[in-house]
Amino acid sequence: MKKWYAVLGDPIAQSMSPVMHDQWCHENELNATYIPIHVEPQQLEQAVQSLRTLGCSGWNVTVPHKQTIIPFLDEVDESASVMNAVNTVYRDPNGKLIGANTDGAGFVKSLQEFTGDSHTNRKVLIVGAGGAARGIAFALQSAGYGPIYFTNRTTSKAAELASQIQNAHVITVEEAEERLDEFGLVVQTTSVGMNFAQAGMPLNPKNVTSGSIVADIIYNPLETEFLRAAKQAGALTMNGVGMFVHQGALAFEKWTGVYPDTKKMIETITMKVGG
Ligand code: ATR
Repeated sequence: MKKWYAVLGDPIAQSMSPVMHDQWCHENELNATYIPIHVEPQQLEQAVQSLRTLGCSGWNVTVPHKQTIIPFLDEVDESASVMNAVNTVYRDPNGKLIGANTDGAGFVKSLQEFTGDSHTNRKVLIVGAGGAARGIAFALQSAGYGPIYFTNRTTSKAAELASQIQNAHVITVEEAEERLDEFGLVVQTTSVGMNFAQAGMPLNPKNVTSGSIVADIIYNPLETEFLRAAKQAGALTMNGVGMFVHQGALAFEKWTGVYPDTKKMIETITMKVGG
């Protein structure tokens, strides 16, 4: 029987997940499809019950449901409990609905694909202290990267996050700008630079060391003002397309057992976003 997967969000029309997963189903000759479903917050519980009853094999969860879906699932795995957020739901062999979060691990996979190695001996600066920063920090640390430093507009939030992670440090934005040359990897996780509404940079990257990696998790636009400035300063820059593709690939693997072709997909998504 044909399997089906979905993504739940509000709004959902802009999601590129259906194109991505449908292409992977096709490439891997799976008899399956992936559909976007618009679910408003007050419909979420009913939507989960319906997907459960109708036999949906697994789904992704996007804004604004990543946290609120948790009580409607049977269990969450460690990745989701660390982040207190779910982006992927799969069924275990008994049919239980398990919530997982592949965002942080997706970032690490995209980083390793970008660098071509798993060389973890890099001092890391994470810019931001929200959910994305949290997931990426835990995933980098469990992959062996570090030490990890946080900087954030609101320093107290960075301090709170750092207190939950072993050997993590906090510096102010001004200090981070001055000491940027110490870091082999800088990861921008805030929404600054997304679309035109959030213009500007959360931090000036002019002091970055040539050859260091500067990543931004934003993928629309493909190059934020922050990444452009980091590139001008000599950094190797990585946008958020890779993270988006790898978080999807990790979900696809949970559902099908196959880790799909990510390199070709990064090109496809880059072309679509670039228009
Ligand atoms: P997400 O879950 O996507 O990470 P979030 O939890 O709302 O989103 O976190 C947003 C992050 O972006 C925070 O680090 C926030 O900084 P504050 O803690 O100071 O609010 C950061 N951020 C958002 N808008 C910003 C801006 N205009 N300048 C600097 N940082 C900003």
